[in-house]
Amino acid sequence: MANQKATNVTWQEGEISREDRSSILRQRGATIWFTGLSGSGKSTIAVALENALYEIGKLSYRLDGDNVRLGINKNLGFSEADRKENIRRIGEVAKLFGDAGIISLSSFISPYKGDRDEVRALHEQAGLDFIEVFVDCSLAVAEERDPKGLYKKARAGEIKNFTGIDDPYEAPVKPEIHLQTDEMTVEKEVRIVLEHLKKNGLILQQHFTRADDNLEAGAAS
Ligand code: ADX
Repeated sequence: MANQKATNVTWQEGEISREDRSSILRQRGATIWFTGLSGSGKSTIAVALENALYEIGKLSYRLDGDNVRLGINKNLGFSEADRKENIRRIGEVAKLFGDAGIISLSSFISPYKGDRDEVRALHEQAGLDFIEVFVDCSLAVAEERDPKGLYKKARAGEIKNFTGIDDPYEAPVKPEIHLQTDEMTVEKEVRIVLEHLKKNGLILQQHFTRADDNLEAGAAS
C-alpha cells in the first residue's frame, strides 16, 4: 500500500454507525471484486448482477475499469506502477462504498495478485466482506471475442503492455468464486454469485434498528 504522506491527520468519527446506515438500506455493504483478462466478461457479469440485485431491492454500484479510467483515474496508464495505483485507489473507494452500506461490483483486470491481496487485507481490517471472483476465460476465447478490437491492435503492436499479450496476468489462487466464462451462460454466473451472497448472509432481510424505530416514531406522531 502507499505510504502515509500527510502528517497530523486523524480519523474523524461520526455519530451514525455502519450498522445505522445498513438499517436504512436493509443490507450489508460488501465488495465483489471481478478479476480477469480483458474480454473475459467481468463487466457483462457485473451489469447482469446489478440488474438481479436491483430486482430484489439491493443497492449495488458498478466500479468499472474503463469508467474509472475516464474519471478519478484518468491520470493513470498501464505500467505496473500505474495499474497498482489504479487498484489501490479503487480498493479504497470500494471500502468507502462498503462502509456506506453499498455492494460494490468492481470490474478490473487487476492482473497482480499482490495488489488484489492488499485490497482484500484493507477490507478485512475494516470488517467488510471481500469476495474475489475469478472471471476465467482462455486467452484464445478472449481474443476471439475481442469486443473492443484491442487484442487485434495489441497483436499488431499498436498497443503496448496489453494484458495477456505482452503483459502478465496472475490468476487468483483461492478466489471465493471461480467462473469459467467460456463454458457458462451469464445467467448461470449471476446465479452462482447470488447463491454465494445468500449463503454468506449478505442479501438476507436485515433486522431494522435505530432508523426504523425513528421512522415508526415519526409516523405515529
Ligand atoms: S488494470 O490492469 O489496471 O486492472 P483496468 O481494468 O483498469 O486494468 O483497465 C482495463 C481496460 O483498459 C481494458 O478492458 C481495455 O479496454 C483497456 N486497455 C487499454 N490499454 C490496455 C492495456 N495495455 N492492457 C489492458 N487493458 C487495456
